[in-house]
Amino acid sequence: MKFFIDTADLEQIQEAQDMGILDGVTTNPSLMAKVGVKGQDAINEHYKKICDIVKGGDVSAEVFATDFEGMVKEGTALAALNKQIVVKLPCTKAGIKAVKYFHDKGIKTNCTLVFSVGQALLAAKAGATYVSPFVGRLDDISSDGVALVAHIVEVYREYGYTTQVLAASIRHTQHIIECLDAGADVATCPLKAIEGLLNHPLTDKGLETFIADSKKMI
Ligand code: G3P
Repeated sequence: MKFFIDTADLEQIQEAQDMGILDGVTTNPSLMAKVGVKGQDAINEHYKKICDIVKGGDVSAEVFATDFEGMVKEGTALAALNKQIVVKLPCTKAGIKAVKYFHDKGIKTNCTLVFSVGQALLAAKAGATYVSPFVGRLDDISSDGVALVAHIVEVYREYGYTTQVLAASIRHTQHIIECLDAGADVATCPLKAIEGLLNHPLTDKGLETFIADSKKMI
């Protein structure tokens, strides 16, 4: 399973890159707004910086437009910034049309805000590179986000769709493990959830003993 980091924060992206485990980055308008970038030039520069840090990995950049023409215009400009850019489009009728448009042009897409297997089916039929089911937001409404990931994976495998299932809205470390078990191709996660994979009390305890014993020899 590939690891993307779900943030626009350059320090966190660098930190994950330095760990040597980073395959890509996903952003959205909320995450971009959070880091305080303002204006199209600043937004474009920020995406270029992210691409430089990830060194070849895919970087999802979301359009702000909600109409087809606007999505095509914005997505075309975003894709021209760097070949690592993946145009992120909402799973609406206009978004699906735009997925098909970019697929035909050979531009990668990430179809986002996916909450049902039917939406994921349309994204795959239109030729999306990635589909993003939102795990945490489904859990928030007492639904089962990981079950949706598993259902989409099963349907794509059964019918031979090549769209990659990118588990999004990952909130904690256990979500990552459950998405791994569900067969997700990618999980896009906050840095904290990735770092949580390292935590084990027996590692801490074992290390303490090794440090104490190593001191006896020096
Ligand atoms: O990848 C989608 C993500 O950014 C949404 O996460 O926590 O706002 O549901 P969240």
